[in-house]
Amino acid sequence: MEVESTERMKKVHVKPINIWEDFFKDKTHGGHRYSTEEFLALEAREKLFHLDGGKTLLDFGCGSAELLTYYAPKYEKLVGVDFSPSMLREADKRIKEKGCNNIDLILANHETLWDHLQFPFDRITAAGVIQYLTFQEIDAFIANASKYLNPDGKIVFFDVLDPRLYPLWKLGLFAPKAGVLKALYRIWCDLWYSISATLKNRPRNIYGFSHNPYKLQEIANKHGFEMRYVQSMYYEYKYHAIMFRT
Ligand SMILES: C[S@@+](CC[C@H](N)C(=O)[O-])C[C@H]1O[C@@H](n2cnc3c(N)ncnc32)[C@H](O)[C@@H]1O
Repeated sequence: MEVESTERMKKVHVKPINIWEDFFKDKTHGGHRYSTEEFLALEAREKLFHLDGGKTLLDFGCGSAELLTYYAPKYEKLVGVDFSPSMLREADKRIKEKGCNNIDLILANHETLWDHLQFPFDRITAAGVIQYLTFQEIDAFIANASKYLNPDGKIVFFDVLDPRLYPLWKLGLFAPKAGVLKALYRIWCDLWYSISATLKNRPRNIYGFSHNPYKLQEIANKHGFEMRYVQSMYYEYKYHAIMFRT
């Protein structure tokens, strides 16, 4: 896998580790509900409210820096990490356009990133990324993150798929014109996509795994963190997990 290196981009990972890395290798946007700057600014504002300060921030799975560039004015130093070369190329472009000179980018995954960090962080965050990790990978991620987190730091996972609400969203129950026929049609489409994705050995959709908040809470507690979870403001079927040391 080749990526054009720039000064801000550090390449520490080259071998694809799973289907998600393959899926994202040529993607250029994070799949927000709306891709307008107006909406991204609103989303970032909600996230900044939950991040609640700190001077240094690590954004794991930063994508094309659609949120990271909005975090930049509020932090002294930020690092964005992603395993997708195309996403990081877009991020680099966007960072230049927005004139954010306090952001570094690292091409790495949840396992390889840790050895390449040069300082600890006040905030370690991920928006719309945890769904691509299994519980075992999340467990290892939190264990590693706790070593790179300053004493009063927080780990904040934004927009985790809620297994209790995600199926309802898939049935279209949050859509403006929900109905039984539409729900049945969606079930049929979902089944069809699943079969065709399995045959082609590709992920079913961009969404990945849903994770029960109480299971995440157990993992957080195991590593010495309290965890609060709150409903995502802009995505009805997602929640944010906010972890801090007791
Ligand atoms: C849905 S996008 C969200 C991007 C960004 N956080 C945002 O909100 O705009 C998910 C991103 O996570 C990255 N990603 C997923 N799993 C990852 C992993 N294990 N290691 C590094 N990056 C990962 C993908 O490449 C993609 O850029």
